[in-house]
Amino acid sequence: MRCVGLLLFTLLIGRVAKALDNGLALKPIMGWLHWVRFMCNVDCDADPDNCISERLFMQMADVMAQEGWRDAGYDYVCIDDCWPSRQRDASGRLQADPGRFPGGIKKLADYVHSKGLKLGIYSDVGANTCAGYPGSLGHYETDAQTFADWGVDLLKFDGCNMKRTLIPEGYRNMSKALNATGSSIVYSCEWPLYEWAFHKPNYTAISETCNQWRNYADVYDSWSSVKSIAEWTALHQDIVVPSAGPGGWNDPDMLVIGNFGLSHDQQETQMALWALMAAPLIMSNDLRSMCPRSKALLQNRRIIAINQDPLGRQGYRTATLGSFEVWERPLSNNIMAIAVRNKEEIGGPQKLPITKVPGWKMCDFLCNVTQILPKFNELGIQRQHTTLAVAVNPSGVVLLTIQPILD
Ligand SMILES: *[C@@H]1O[C@H](CO)[C@@H](O)[C@H](O)[C@H]1NC(C)=O
Ligand SMILES: *[C@@H]1O[C@H](CO)[C@@H](O)[C@H](O)[C@H]1NC(C)=O
Ligand SMILES: *[C@@H]1O[C@H](CO)[C@@H](O)[C@H](O)[C@H]1NC(C)=O
Ligand SMILES: *[C@@H]1O[C@H](CO)[C@@H](O)[C@H](O)[C@H]1NC(C)=O
Repeated sequence: MRCVGLLLFTLLIGRVAKALDNGLALKPIMGWLHWVRFMCNVDCDADPDNCISERLFMQMADVMAQEGWRDAGYDYVCIDDCWPSRQRDASGRLQADPGRFPGGIKKLADYVHSKGLKLGIYSDVGANTCAGYPGSLGHYETDAQTFADWGVDLLKFDGCNMKRTLIPEGYRNMSKALNATGSSIVYSCEWPLYEWAFHKPNYTAISETCNQWRNYADVYDSWSSVKSIAEWTALHQDIVVPSAGPGGWNDPDMLVIGNFGLSHDQQETQMALWALMAAPLIMSNDLRSMCPRSKALLQNRRIIAINQDPLGRQGYRTATLGSFEVWERPLSNNIMAIAVRNKEEIGGPQKLPITKVPGWKMCDFLCNVTQILPKFNELGIQRQHTTLAVAVNPSGVVLLTIQPILD
């Protein structure tokens, strides 16, 4: 209860930190990133369809434009590690691997832009990337200018191979270097992730420097991974939630929906929690072949609207009630989004009366209740002492919105 009280206080006084002033990521960005699905597959001879190459990103861009992804809001096509050549060019600039990106990044950016999409690229604050490719340490200005010259729209800046005491300075220097190019480049940091191991990061400094930041371990294509990210976020919510808002967001890492590791209920739970956490919605999956149910979930307009709500407040866990967990996010127009999770991984659907949900307190007279997951269902006007209950599948979620009716 103490934690909830502190959060409500923070919500009343508003956001604590100032955001990076580059006019970008005023809502959490949406897009696609190659890592979880395609990792560091550089063997284009053996696996031409799945290796990290310009062909992969062009194909994803084609599908994003053709199959409703861009129109749903997913507009960043992002490259992760393993794109560069092992050597910088004669003038010290990063260059793409010539075998896998024969046209170079500038041409790829032009192609992606021609589809109405944006291109993201990856580098590292240290001497080498996590996979051992050249990092940006000692080259921040050159690399920022190179990315700007290529027309890149986002930089994911990893934190491997960096002296830990220099992490804040390195991330700040790159932020300044990006600003000095005069180009609009979303700055995606991993600064807090690499600092938590030895001390609490300075979220005021981080949100002044970055448009989004990773706090915790890489997501894997598994339920245990998705669960552990939600749990970490809830346990640290009084530290991380107040730092989020228009221009800067906590990044719980990629959506793994549409891959192999999650049941459909678990995919719904990831989508609902990422919407409530005001997380960047960055998928990592194979858009060229995806189960229609996963596609419909990722493109669900009502869930996306919660994620993109203009108030820009991150949600938080408000209750643990037996095997249930309740997460809530205040939205604009006095609407509250509520996710009720059933953490049990055995048995069948379990019922929770809605009056047990902490946010129900806002319905002191009448409330309009709308269920969004697992199925859209207008539950109608409910009185304060309603007997309405939600039935939640094991490891699944029920996502609702409630809006007080005043009259
Ligand atoms: C650079 O920073 C200044 C001051 O914070 C800001 O007004 C400007 O829009 C920034 N430019 C870019 C390209 O981010
Ligand atoms: C950051 O920039 C300052 C000022 O130019 C410089 O002294 C410092 O060495 C830089 N730090 C890193 C990690 O690049
Ligand atoms: C955190 O960063 C802010 C902004 O850069 C700075 O003013 C503040 O002193 C820092 N706090 C600590 C504890 O270092
Ligand atoms: C309740 O909300 C639903 C959509 O979420 C809307 O269609 C309906 O008109 C609302 N009813 C009232 C009485 O506001």
